[in-house]
Amino acid sequence: MHGQQPRDITGGNTLAHTFDEERATASPHPWHAQTKPVNQKEEATPITPRRVLNLKAFDETRAGVKGLVDAGVTAVPSIFHHPPESLAHGAPRPHRFTVPVINLSSVVESAKRAEVVAQVRAAAETFGFFQVVGHGVPEAATSAMLAAVRGFIEEPVEAKAPYYTRDTGRRVRYQSNLDLFQSTAANWRDTLFMEMPPAPEELPAACRLVAPEYARLVQQRLGRTLLGLLSEALGRRPGHLEEERGCLDGLSLACHYYPACPEPQLTLGTPRHTDASFLTVLLQDAVGGLQVLVDLDGAAAWVDVPPVAGALVVNVGDFLQLMSNDRFKSVEHRVVSNGVGPRVSVACFFRTDRAAAPTRVLAPIVAVGEEARYRSATVEEVVQQYYKVKGLAGASALEHFRL
Ligand code: OGA
Ligand code: NI
Repeated sequence: MHGQQPRDITGGNTLAHTFDEERATASPHPWHAQTKPVNQKEEATPITPRRVLNLKAFDETRAGVKGLVDAGVTAVPSIFHHPPESLAHGAPRPHRFTVPVINLSSVVESAKRAEVVAQVRAAAETFGFFQVVGHGVPEAATSAMLAAVRGFIEEPVEAKAPYYTRDTGRRVRYQSNLDLFQSTAANWRDTLFMEMPPAPEELPAACRLVAPEYARLVQQRLGRTLLGLLSEALGRRPGHLEEERGCLDGLSLACHYYPACPEPQLTLGTPRHTDASFLTVLLQDAVGGLQVLVDLDGAAAWVDVPPVAGALVVNVGDFLQLMSNDRFKSVEHRVVSNGVGPRVSVACFFRTDRAAAPTRVLAPIVAVGEEARYRSATVEEVVQQYYKVKGLAGASALEHFRL
């Protein structure tokens, strides 16, 4: 059974020095060490030969962060240590900001639809994040999806190892940290990534029935509805983003598993980033930890996106910011580490299928009297730029395409 409750593993501190020869020289990072403003870029830390050895040793276990926790580590190995400026939480500032929760159940009634379009437009134009209820994806499908991810990651290492790969030629890839060997700090997270639709035999048994069905519901029900609302919010007919811009053509699922972390103040679950997608629909369990960067009276601050029972989180990705000519905002977000866990989340990225990326052109939709703020670019160009700037906090791939 994998129905255990999340547990708290901070506390005890007998050291298991796995992959951790660097620890002795690493400086401690106090929890609230806000040494730099949150929007300042990180200094690049050199990737030393020793770090590479430690990364290889970790990667070769094919057991991910879950494997470390199962082995009983009570200290976070140094490969996972983030510099204080990216950990900084700052003194919590009082604010009244909440990510809006929008009920989509009435979008079929034309009288109410205009109101929902206005809510979606307001959220997409300001914070780039909102939660939706009444979204048409049944609770049975969301809970089955979370259980399937948990079921897979909690299988014995031998069962998961065949899926552990960094070969992007495979449509299903289980791994800890997509950019393990490129980033300067690893994250306390394992991921099962799926480009839909894979061949059924490519999917691990734990997800074989559940994941394609969940993806279908997100794409065909919620995705279609959201793209209709967003099209209208841009002053176009409801089918515009789906039919003329291909925003519903491809879907990838990143299923994340964030084990409880013994020293959550030293690392992150997911560092700050924007999404390389048109739109992302995120299913999160009840643990919490997702934060979005918002402007509070002129100063950037991290604000929680709290779990809301039955809700899905929606955010605008880079492709849609370009396509909406900056009207909709692709906003930075992150996941903090937690002593309580595991936390499970499933991000559905709406983006073109890989085969279409070199030819699918993203062009700004320009309102009358407005000027284009971006040059047109293919999905492939934007994705390449995305990976080029990745890791530089606060940098957006979109700047490269700005006119
Ligand atoms: C992502 C993401 C957030 C989460 O996968 O891009 O932002 O809560 N995930 O796991
Ligand atoms: Ni994201």
